[in-house]
Amino acid sequence: MSNPPSPASLRPATGKLGILLPGMGAVATTFIAGVLAVRKGLALPIGSLTQMGSIRLGQRTEHRNPFLRDFVPLSAVQDLVFGGWDIYEDNCYQAARKAGVLSPDLLESVREDLEAIRPMPAVFDPGFVSRISGPNVKPSTSKRALVEALMEDMRQFKQREGCDRLVMIWCGSTERYLPPGAVHESLEALERAIDQDHPDLPPGMLYAYAALRLGIPYANGAPNLSCDVPALVELARKTGAPLAGKDFKTGQTLMKTIVAPGLKARSLGISGWFSTNILGNRDGEVLDDPDNFRSKEVSKLGVLEQILEPERHPELYGELYHKVRIEYYPPRGDNKEGWDNIDITGWLGYPMQIKIDFLCRDSILAAPLVLDLALFLDLAARAGMSGVQEWLSFYFKSPQTAPGLYAQHDVFIQREKLMNTLRHLMGETLITHLGLEYYSDEPAQNA
Ligand SMILES: NC(=O)c1ccc[n+]([C@@H]2O[C@H](COP(=O)([O-])OP(=O)(O)OC[C@H]3O[C@@H](n4cnc5c(N)ncnc54)[C@H](O)[C@@H]3O)[C@@H](O)[C@H]2O)c1
Repeated sequence: MSNPPSPASLRPATGKLGILLPGMGAVATTFIAGVLAVRKGLALPIGSLTQMGSIRLGQRTEHRNPFLRDFVPLSAVQDLVFGGWDIYEDNCYQAARKAGVLSPDLLESVREDLEAIRPMPAVFDPGFVSRISGPNVKPSTSKRALVEALMEDMRQFKQREGCDRLVMIWCGSTERYLPPGAVHESLEALERAIDQDHPDLPPGMLYAYAALRLGIPYANGAPNLSCDVPALVELARKTGAPLAGKDFKTGQTLMKTIVAPGLKARSLGISGWFSTNILGNRDGEVLDDPDNFRSKEVSKLGVLEQILEPERHPELYGELYHKVRIEYYPPRGDNKEGWDNIDITGWLGYPMQIKIDFLCRDSILAAPLVLDLALFLDLAARAGMSGVQEWLSFYFKSPQTAPGLYAQHDVFIQREKLMNTLRHLMGETLITHLGLEYYSDEPAQNA
């Protein structure tokens, strides 16, 4: 990540911001319909830090707590326009009705605007996403031609909608697990692989490449590799585009990264953590295939290791057994139920148990993240910050970091990192929470 400039050189958020979404299923349509409803004053953007959150500035005695949207120059929801790609031809109203997340009444109130948003033909490869197929797909010529076609889509969208700037957030299905390889190691290798139609270039990576080539900020909401390879970080740095990923942190993993830091903070032991979900939407169907689930499993399993540091605390976490399951169960649709059984140990090793039963709504939790990521990535671009934006790890299950750097999963550390980045961007002093000055005669700092 390049160094952020001073507030004076932060370009203002003028004009329209186009949000491009590869994958216009449950999450994308819940996001778009939600923003349209918020715009009309029909509902509140709950769960969105950019719309509802505030930030403390300076001394506790100063009582400066502006809303984030008043503190940093973000695009207003009125200035957002939406576009995207999907393998199905349904417009956003039809897709949202099929996803069944939002009530028919709410969708009816924004129907006209939703119907006007029709997905562009997708770049799709059934070798990377099984169990779905659709007609709205670009003819499979060469990978280079597909990338060129995507870039042309973006240019035309920008012109047609009169956008000042664009951002892209991947909301497509989870692609099968693919370990990073030699073709992803450098931009030169990746360019060559595109020209040679190399099989290790899934559509998710081609969309990311196309966006970053045009200097368009990119975030990956799914767990597949996409932009999390050295070649695309190199490209982003070259074109001045910020990027972030991967896999939206929503239901069970959000809970995990809230609860685990709390238990660790009190030096309570954990011997087992079993998580299972039932989920009946299309995402659940795709994840029912073991190859697709493998991407998700890798993304979900990493969080406890990093938070608990078993190697540093073998008596507390050395024996931890961590298992994650997702079961496809159609009757529940998007309304997932996630169970966690946590076996913990207290004073003198006495065992206790915690049970969490989270009756959540997958896309309701994910939609505000799409909004925040789009607005913050656009802010980063206007601030001249390119490459990996680790300060946005707050939003991800498997945050992308600089090479060799472990990811921070503790949601409270992630939040502080985000807030301090915003303070830094706006020329405010960072908050350390030390606070000694409140109890001494020394001049006050920022605690
Ligand atoms: N909802 C959550 O809480 C949550 C959390 C973390 C990650 N995710 C991820 O977000 C993604 C979207 O979730 P969802 O519930 O909206 O799924 P969904 O199945 O409803 O929507 C995904 C859409 O992507 C489309 N698609 C697949 N490949 C495509 C391609 N190459 N180009 C264009 N479109 C393509 C599909 O046709 C589908 O309409 C999934 O990968 C999911 O794993 C969701």
